[in-house]
Amino acid sequence: MTAILQAIGTAVPPQIVTNDDLAARLDTSDEWVRTRTGIAQRHVAEAGTSTSDLAVEAGAEALKSSGGEVDVVIVATTTPDRICPSTAPEVASRLGLGTVAAFDVNAVCAGFVYALATAAGLIETGAAERALVVGAETMTRIVDPEDRGTAVLFGDGAGAVVLGRGHADQPGAVGPFDLGSDGDRADLLCVPAGGARRPLDQAARDERANYLHMDGREVYRQAVKRMSDSSRALLARAELDVDDIDCFIGHQANARILDAVGDRLGIAPERRISNVARYGNTSAASIPLAMSDAGVEPGKRVLLTAFGAGMTWGSALLTWPELAAS
Ligand code: COA
Repeated sequence: MTAILQAIGTAVPPQIVTNDDLAARLDTSDEWVRTRTGIAQRHVAEAGTSTSDLAVEAGAEALKSSGGEVDVVIVATTTPDRICPSTAPEVASRLGLGTVAAFDVNAVCAGFVYALATAAGLIETGAAERALVVGAETMTRIVDPEDRGTAVLFGDGAGAVVLGRGHADQPGAVGPFDLGSDGDRADLLCVPAGGARRPLDQAARDERANYLHMDGREVYRQAVKRMSDSSRALLARAELDVDDIDCFIGHQANARILDAVGDRLGIAPERRISNVARYGNTSAASIPLAMSDAGVEPGKRVLLTAFGAGMTWGSALLTWPELAAS
C-alpha cells in the first residue's frame, strides 16, 4: 500500500510586514533583501496567535475538503507552542479528531518532508489509515528582531495535507523518499539557549542566545549542496531522470538558493515553484504553502526537496492528484 495525497489546506496570519517596514527599524533596505533573497514581504503572527492556531486553521481546511477522519496527526514545527508537550495533540483535539495518535516532528525546515515520510510509513505498514500532516511555524518568535541577517528572512504560516491509502500507480501516490542529516554542523543554524543544554537565564538573554543564530554563507552553501544531492539520490532510487519531473518544489528559503538548486539539477525555470517573495522562509510550512500555490495538473510528477537546521534534508516524489476544492 502507498500513501495518497488527498487534500491541502493553508493558513497565514493576516499581518504583512514588507521589507520597507523592516528597513524602518533595521539597517537594511528593500533593494538588499530582494536582490539577496527574492523576499518582498512576510506574514507575521500577531501577539496571541501561536503555531497551534495556524496549524488548526490549515488542518481544518485540509480536512474540510477531504472529509472524514484521520487516525494520526503529525505536526512538523520548530516553534511549538511550548517546549513540552508536543503541539500535535492540542491540534488534534481542537480539530475534533478525538483521541487519535498525535506527535510533533522537529527537523526544522526539512520537517514537513520528514513528517510526510513518517506518515507515509505509518500508512504503508497499516499502523494508520489516514493521516493529517501539518507544517506550522511562528518563526518570527525565535528570530532576533534586532539581527538584520536573520530578521529579514523568516515569516509565519502553516500548510497541511491529508494522506489516505491507495496504490503506487494512483494519482496522489507519495514516495519514495530520501532523508539525511549532519549533526556535526548543528551550530551553523541554532537557538543556543532555552533547551536542556543551556537553560534560559538572564546571561543567555543578555547574549541574545534565546534567538536563532546563523552562519548565513555556510548555510547557503549547505542548502544548495544538500538539496541538489538529495534530489539526485532520490531520482536515482526511483530510476527517474530529471526530465521526468514536471514540477520542482524546493524549500522556500531564498530565491537564489532555489535557482542554484534548479540550475544544478537541470530543471527548466518554468517547472520551478517559488512563492518566497510573498512569505519569506516559513520553515516547516514552506513546502505545503508552495504545494498549495503550485497549480499542478493531476497526474504530473512532483519533486519536493528541503533543507534545514540540524543540518537536516529530505526529498520526496509524488504524482499530483485531483484535489477537491475546500
Ligand atoms: N541588509 C543589509 N545588509 C545585510 C543584511 C541585511 N538584511 N544582512 C546582512 N547584511 C550584510 C552583511 O553584514 C555583510 O556585510 P559585510 O560585508 O560588511 O560583513 C553583507 O551584507 C554581505 O553579507 P553576505 O553574508 O555575503 O551576503 P549574502 O549574499 O551571503 O546574503 C544571506 C546573506 C543571509 C541572504 C545568505 O547568506 C543566505 O541566504 N543564507 C542562507 C540563509 C537561509 O536560507 N537560512 C535558512 C536555511 S533553511
